[in-house]
Amino acid sequence: MTLIAILPGDGIGPEVTTEARRALEALAYDLTFEEAPVGGAAYRACGHPLPEQTLDLARRADAVLFGAVGDPDLDGLERALRPEQAILGLRRELALFANLRPARLFPGLEDASALRPEVASAIDLVIVRELTGDVYFGEKGQRQTATGSRQGYDIMAYDEHEVARIARVGFETARKRRGRLCSVDKANVLETSQLWRDVVIEVAADYADVELSHMYVDNAAMQLVRNPGQFDVIVTGNLFGDILSDQASMCAGSIGMLPSAALNTDAKGLYEPIHGSAPDIAGKGAANPCAAMLSAAMMLRHSLARPELADRLEAAVIGAVADGIRTPDLGGTATTRQVGDAVIARL
Ligand code: NAD
Ligand code: IPM
Ligand code: MN
Repeated sequence: MTLIAILPGDGIGPEVTTEARRALEALAYDLTFEEAPVGGAAYRACGHPLPEQTLDLARRADAVLFGAVGDPDLDGLERALRPEQAILGLRRELALFANLRPARLFPGLEDASALRPEVASAIDLVIVRELTGDVYFGEKGQRQTATGSRQGYDIMAYDEHEVARIARVGFETARKRRGRLCSVDKANVLETSQLWRDVVIEVAADYADVELSHMYVDNAAMQLVRNPGQFDVIVTGNLFGDILSDQASMCAGSIGMLPSAALNTDAKGLYEPIHGSAPDIAGKGAANPCAAMLSAAMMLRHSLARPELADRLEAAVIGAVADGIRTPDLGGTATTRQVGDAVIARL
């Protein structure tokens, strides 16, 4: 029996996760599901955003389906207790260093993109984001300087082995696609990035079939809206990847369309939409469940070895959206449940 951990979390997390779970239930009959609280919901229920039982379930499960965490009412908590620590803790504890964030414009969504249709239609890329290092996990704090002013700091650091292993994921991903890898950094200013670039070039020796290029992150942000079709695979650090993937989502129509897979070298993975808990629309049935459903498809492909079911689920999402069954973020009037129903009807 294959065990899927369902961690719905906060805001729209439970709404979109429900639809993704229903799709998995409709597709594969040999899955069992176990649910646990995470994020603000877990803090309210048990006093901690990542309770021991939730982490234990994530460890026992074959794969994790994660919704979103974040609750503006809990932003005043000390950092260790904030909802966001749950997802950071899961990534760290499960050593999920490789985050795949594909962005592609589905048929019919040209008008939903923030770009002109002819520019938008070319987008078909994967951002390979490093997920367990960088400024996210370095030493951080607030202190007083010698002159008595308050100072905040977050150390940005990468070890060469961390860069090398994510670079390999980038090259392998590019090899299975159009064979082009763009490494995004800020090597003109940051030593972290200079090491990143040096190590990526070293790893490239093993991938002569992949065409490697380098781009500064500020230029990459510009190029993503100027001509997103130029990118095949982007490999980048944790912070740059976070920012660029939200940007890429609007090229593809909506942040509600982008799924992700957080992977280690084993089959275990955590799958989540790239969006957050969207407190502004939570509880209204307006959340787009496509990103969560496409994350479930990535789970079928990467953790459950069921690529044919992944294809069916992706095709069903593409079909529902193409037929105009869309939530308001895509200019439609459908509810979260109606999109879920439309996808399941097309499986
Ligand atoms: P957000 O992604 O939650 O929302 C940004 C905007 O996009 C909002 O206007 C929201 O309504 C819209 N949006 C997001 N997902 C949508 C969907 N599926 N359908 C339709 N519209 C959608 O980002 P934010 O507002 O910066 O953050 C809100 C909270 O979520 C914060 O607490 C933040 O820390 C947290 N967050 C969590 C994750 C995660 O759990 N992985 C990711 C990002 C943000
Ligand atoms: C994401 C989110 C998280 C991140 C936050 C909630 C910690 O923005 O998954 O993209 O920055 O990685
Ligand atoms: Mn993000």
